[in-house]
Amino acid sequence: MRILVTGAAGFIGFHTARRLLEDGHEVVGIDGFTPYYDPALKLRRHEILQQNPAYCGHEAMLEDFAAFKAIYGEGFDAVYHFAAQAGVRYSLDNPRAYVEANLVGTFNLLELLRHAPPRHALLASTSSVYGANASIPFRETDRADHPLTLYAATKKANEEMAHSYSHLFNIPTTMLRFFTVYGPWGRPDMALFKFAAALFEGRPIDIYNHGNMRRDFTFVGDLVEAMVRLLGQAPLAPDARPAPAPALDSLSPVAPWRVVNIGARTPVALMDFVAAIEAATGLRASCNFMDMQQGDVPITFANTELLFLLTGFTPKTPLQEGVSAFVAWYRAYHGV
Ligand SMILES: NC(=O)c1ccc[n+]([C@@H]2O[C@H](COP(=O)([O-])OP(=O)(O)OC[C@H]3O[C@@H](n4cnc5c(N)ncnc54)[C@H](O)[C@@H]3O)[C@@H](O)[C@H]2O)c1
Repeated sequence: MRILVTGAAGFIGFHTARRLLEDGHEVVGIDGFTPYYDPALKLRRHEILQQNPAYCGHEAMLEDFAAFKAIYGEGFDAVYHFAAQAGVRYSLDNPRAYVEANLVGTFNLLELLRHAPPRHALLASTSSVYGANASIPFRETDRADHPLTLYAATKKANEEMAHSYSHLFNIPTTMLRFFTVYGPWGRPDMALFKFAAALFEGRPIDIYNHGNMRRDFTFVGDLVEAMVRLLGQAPLAPDARPAPAPALDSLSPVAPWRVVNIGARTPVALMDFVAAIEAATGLRASCNFMDMQQGDVPITFANTELLFLLTGFTPKTPLQEGVSAFVAWYRAYHGV
C-alpha cells in the first residue's frame, strides 16, 4: 500500500512509519519539525526513515494548505494522522498552538480526504478526552464530554470533525485513543524522558500530586502493533454491515467511523514507574513532591476489549522491559 503518515518525524509517527516500511509499504511522511521540543531529535528520526528508498519525507506545516495539498496529490491507500500539538501542560500557556495544529491542521487533512478518500484513515486521539470521567476502566462507549484542557478539547473536536466528514463523504475512519505512550526515541517533554535525564544529570525529579497518580503506560512497540493490525479493520458504512455491532463497539450508527482505545490496561503508580527507571539506570532518584497540576487527572486506565475484538491483540510488554529498552536507547543516543 501507499500510506501517508503525518507527524512522521515525531515519536509515534517515526515508529509507525518504520514498521510500515518493514512491512513492505511505500510511505510518504509530512512533518513541520516544530520547535515544541528539540528539532534535532526529529531530524535524526527523519534521517533514519530517509535511508529507506520506499520512504519519502516532506517538511511542511499542515496549516499550509497549498503545500499539504501538493504532497497529498491524488491521495493514498491509507492515512495515519499523528501531526499535532501534543502535551497536556503546555496547553495552559500556549493554547493557540493547539488551535492551529490540531483544529486547522486536522481540518486541512479532512478537506484532502474528502476529495480523494483513502480506504482507511486512522487519526490519533488521546486518553485525555476522557477528562473528568470517573468510571474506570475508560470505555470507548462512555460519554467523554468534560475535557479538562484545551489539548483534550481539540482532540475531542478532531474526533467529531472526522465523524462528520466520515458521514458526509463516506471516509472509513478510526480514531485512536492513546494512553501515555513510552519507549525508545520518546518525547523529551514526557515523564520517562524527563526523569531519566534528571537521574543521569544528578538533578531531582518533580513528582506531581505527591505521587498519587496512576498512568496506563503503553509501550510504543505494542502501540504500533495494534495500529498496523487495525489498518485492515476499516469500519464499514451502516448499510454494508453484515450484522449489528456488539454493544462494546463504538461504531457510529450513521458513518464508517469508530474510536478505539490503545492502552496497556494496567495503571501503574507513579512511584512504581520511578522505581522501574531507578532499576534500569542503577541510579537513585531524589524527588520533589508537588501538588497536582492544573488539568491533570489522577488515573488513566484503558478498557481494551474492542481492540482485542478487532485485532486479537492486547499490549503485553512488561513495564520494566519497556523502561529498560528506553534507558538503553537514551544511553546510546546521549552517550551516557
Ligand atoms: N505520546 C503519547 O503518549 C500520546 C498520547 C496520546 C495521544 N498522542 C497523540 O499522538 C500523536 C503523536 O504524538 P507524539 O507523542 O508522537 O508527538 P510528537 O510531538 O513527537 O509528534 C508530533 C509531530 O508532529 C509534528 N507537527 C506538530 N504540529 C504540526 C503541524 N501543524 N504541521 C506539521 N507537523 C506538525 C511535530 O513536528 C512532531 O514531529 C499526537 O496526535 C498526539 O496528540 C500521543
